[in-house]
Amino acid sequence: MKIVEQIKQPIVYEMELFEQKFLLSMSSKVALLNRITTYIVNRKGKQMRPMFVFLVAKMVNNGNVSERTYRGAAVIELIHTATLVHDDVVDDSNRRRGFFSVNALWKNKIAVLIGDYLLSKGLLLSIDNNDFDLLKIISVAVREMSEGELLQIEKARQLDITEDIYYEIIRQKTATLIAACCSLGAASVKPNSPDVETMRKFGELIGMAFQIKDDLFDYGNEAIGKPTGIDIKEQKMTLPLIYAINNCMKKEKSWLINSVKNKNKDKKRVKEVIAFVKSKGGLDYAVTKMMAFQEEALQLLNTYPDSQFKASLLLMVNYVIDRKK
Ligand code: IPE
Ligand code: IPE
Ligand code: MG
Ligand code: MG
Repeated sequence: MKIVEQIKQPIVYEMELFEQKFLLSMSSKVALLNRITTYIVNRKGKQMRPMFVFLVAKMVNNGNVSERTYRGAAVIELIHTATLVHDDVVDDSNRRRGFFSVNALWKNKIAVLIGDYLLSKGLLLSIDNNDFDLLKIISVAVREMSEGELLQIEKARQLDITEDIYYEIIRQKTATLIAACCSLGAASVKPNSPDVETMRKFGELIGMAFQIKDDLFDYGNEAIGKPTGIDIKEQKMTLPLIYAINNCMKKEKSWLINSVKNKNKDKKRVKEVIAFVKSKGGLDYAVTKMMAFQEEALQLLNTYPDSQFKASLLLMVNYVIDRKK
């Protein structure tokens, strides 16, 4: 059995029902909107976030979820989808999930509005059902994601990113939403338990490892369903490059920074930078850091008694690092 199927085994029923609810949650009376949301749902992602929501809820609550869990999972996936649509505008990227991105097909104007629509549909799903405690968790994540993206842009312009700022960026832009998945999963069934905070921290650690993995993909040539090698083009300095900059000679450092600043659209130069980063051990360093976050997450998870849900979450933690896309 494939690893993802194995992870999903204790939540097969929930994930099927989730899909129906997720689809319904997007519908609109505007034909153009429906055409685009249909395009989006037909190219589905890994759905790791709803999987986290259901697995955590079941782990902390003896295998039981509630309607709140379903709504929370749908809200998170709506918001995740909205941020991807916006992210491809921001990153000027034309591919997503193996197909054209929304901005590639319908242009930026429409992609911005689609992202706003999905975001508001998500928030309303919580409001209309009085899930205000869950809405709070989600809104914090939405705010932090915007802050993280803007901090990233600021650092891409000033080219003065440090390793600590990199961690702050990925915590905000990515880890915070996975943290929200896990704390929301717990809060949906046990609103006042300490599990809500423990699981938030667990999700945050996994989210850090998840984004480091995503940044490593950018240094490879594998078919991951979205472009690779675009981070330097966008002057986005991620962990492998930051490590190389901090661990080379002064002259090399100037060459690296000048490459990112002035030659970032020069394909040959970008390839040279990538090769240099590799030769300096930048990828190995990022892998080591990724595994350190994974290890911390595993330790938190292991404070829980064994169950099939915990077993799936353990597999999920490894999948974040071993995944091929
Ligand atoms: C992509 O997330 C955005 C990041 C935070 C790196 P996923 O890799 O979970 O995207 P899909 O939903 O599977 O396409
Ligand atoms: C992912 O940003 C985080 C958000 C969508 C907020 P990236 O730009 O690093 O992710 P990909 O690689 O395009 O999915
Ligand atoms: Mg981005
Ligand atoms: Mg992007």
